[in-house]
Amino acid sequence: MRVYFDNAATTPLDPDVMKEMYKVMESQFGNPSSIHAHGREARTLIERSRKTIAGLLHTSPAEIFFTSSGTEADNTAIRCGIIDHKITHAITSPTEHHAVLHTLEAMEKSGIIKLSLVNIDSKGVIDYDHLETLLKENERSFVSLMHANNEIGTLSDMERIGDLCEAYNAIYHCDTVQTMGHYQHDLSKLKAHFVVCAGHKLHGPKGVGFLHINHKIKIKPFIYGGAQERNMRGGTENIYGIVGLAKALELAYGEMEQHQNHIQGLKSYMMEQLIANVPGVNFNGETAPDKSLYTVLNVAFPEMEMSDMLLFNLDIAGISASGGSACSSGSDIGSHVLTAIGASSSRPSVRFSFSKYNTKEEVDFVVAKVRELCAVNV
Ligand SMILES: Cc1ncc(COP(=O)(O)O)c(C=O)c1O
Repeated sequence: MRVYFDNAATTPLDPDVMKEMYKVMESQFGNPSSIHAHGREARTLIERSRKTIAGLLHTSPAEIFFTSSGTEADNTAIRCGIIDHKITHAITSPTEHHAVLHTLEAMEKSGIIKLSLVNIDSKGVIDYDHLETLLKENERSFVSLMHANNEIGTLSDMERIGDLCEAYNAIYHCDTVQTMGHYQHDLSKLKAHFVVCAGHKLHGPKGVGFLHINHKIKIKPFIYGGAQERNMRGGTENIYGIVGLAKALELAYGEMEQHQNHIQGLKSYMMEQLIANVPGVNFNGETAPDKSLYTVLNVAFPEMEMSDMLLFNLDIAGISASGGSACSSGSDIGSHVLTAIGASSSRPSVRFSFSKYNTKEEVDFVVAKVRELCAVNV
């Protein structure tokens, strides 16, 4: 048996997405920028996809801009949101994805912004009072706070952050890479100026994503070139990817509640089974269903010999998962997220992340293997 519990890293392509993409690959090769029939057909597919996505998210197609990835969408929002609006202060959290954190740190290093980190607690929950203090103390800020943490699953309150940003006239970017297609996002109600999506996190293709730019904010292009994406992102469009992404989102919305219940059931079951079978086991981040991304379970195992071999041993045992421990003092290898929440560096942590394709039998298999490994290595 081989179990894939690393769906926060990437998800397998849905066969229906693949079929849709394959149809396009077989029949369309035109450049969407060409004005002849081949080009027009390709352009129609892109605009149809944009319309599908906008409809699902309750927004206008004019606010959706296709990108090559979640990383590019994050970089566009951050760099252009800050530079084009002459912002000199940004607020983020120490647990953001590196697509956000490294971008902001590079801008700070270049002297473009002063960067403030909002306080978080031991589960990775934002201190909203501290966020308000930072907003109050600084002139117009750029706020980048993710919706769900990709390592520990802790959710932020987008409504609350949106209200605070509105009250202090801040620009709000939310990295929604882990939650697009997993929760119902109504972009007509959200106060975020920028939200992002990566196709490969929702059973869509890799190498495609989008940035949603709320009509209330204008930015200049991040990538200059041709007139693609209404002059906002140069580069010939990834037509197969875009069609696949729209199909993946459509499927995700059609079956969302059913998948949420199934996956949350697997996560709760795995927690129960681990507690019953592995003495001393614990969980990193929030685990309550309303405060935690249902696809992610970050497990802190008890101290053991050769703890850095745990992931390797799981792999050998047929389990694909990912993780890492908090950095021990003096070392910068390890998880910046676990370090930021103060997790113990001597306990190995593993992130198990689930999808609609996983089963209870796979959870039983993984728990049995984990139990064996923990018993051997104590
Ligand atoms: C929260 C978060 N943001 C951004 C990204 C980057 O997305 P991509 O892999 O499409 O560049 C990821 C991917 O792991 C992520 O989990």
